[in-house]
Amino acid sequence: LREKRGGLVDWMSIKEVTEIRAMEESFRRGDKAIFETISWVKDNVKNGKRITEYDLWSQTAEHYRRQGAVEQSFNTIAGVGPNGSIIHYGNPSDEVVIKQDDMILLDSGGYFASGFATDTTRTFFALPQGEARAEYKKIYTLVLKGLLACQNAVFPEGTKGNVLDGLARAPMMKHGYNYNHGTGHGVGVHVHEDGVRLSLISQMPMKPGQVVSIEPGIYVPGFGGVRLENVAVVEKHPEFKGFLRFRSLVYVGFDPSLIDEAMLNDEELGQWQAYEKQCAERGTSFTGRA
Ligand code: GLY
Ligand code: MN
Ligand code: MN
Repeated sequence: LREKRGGLVDWMSIKEVTEIRAMEESFRRGDKAIFETISWVKDNVKNGKRITEYDLWSQTAEHYRRQGAVEQSFNTIAGVGPNGSIIHYGNPSDEVVIKQDDMILLDSGGYFASGFATDTTRTFFALPQGEARAEYKKIYTLVLKGLLACQNAVFPEGTKGNVLDGLARAPMMKHGYNYNHGTGHGVGVHVHEDGVRLSLISQMPMKPGQVVSIEPGIYVPGFGGVRLENVAVVEKHPEFKGFLRFRSLVYVGFDPSLIDEAMLNDEELGQWQAYEKQCAERGTSFTGRA
């Protein structure tokens, strides 16, 4: 994305309260669609059914339709096992059968009646309550730490996008990982909008009312990939004058099979649990799900 500044681009990146309400409603439906799709995979894998990467791709659209989506907001990325490492993987295969010990990346979004796009990524383990290999858990947990750090940031109005990008990358960089894409883009009527950008070089100032994705990832060619993507609205901090924070529009729980709790500090554990509680209240948490 190029950084376009000024005039209509800035104005468009700042959403009105009614627009944010409409986006909340769309994401609520999108969250359900994603939760139901992942649950569908886990149930079938548990029952020994033969399902493929292509089935996952088409079931994703089916579950969005059931939630009232008019269409997908982009071609769903459904990458099983090593295919999860391909950032824009768009050709799901009917020959890739989902195995019990696969880690799977699902990046999807929909258009609902209000006309706003949604965009969310969850990475998950195929077998419900299964024990994933240590390397999967390591990269998943590092990406989760980055998402939590960025999503829970408190920052002065006008902070440049590169500062927030750095928060998402810092945990994984300590372990020698990085990702070859930006951390966040504006979301609105279009799934990729200008006027706000989180990237290594973004000089774009953060403003209340902007809606932006937060999507760190780790991609290991031939092995697998993790991306965790929420979309959040930038709002004024309720206590600290002149400061901003994010409020997530996405509430889909994280996969307990892929989290190495020993890698989370107390603050991160608290942030994860607070988020997971909100998901549980919405019926979209995998914690404790059989
Ligand atoms: N799948 C498009 C995006 O996350 O930006
Ligand atoms: Mn995105
Ligand atoms: Mn996405």
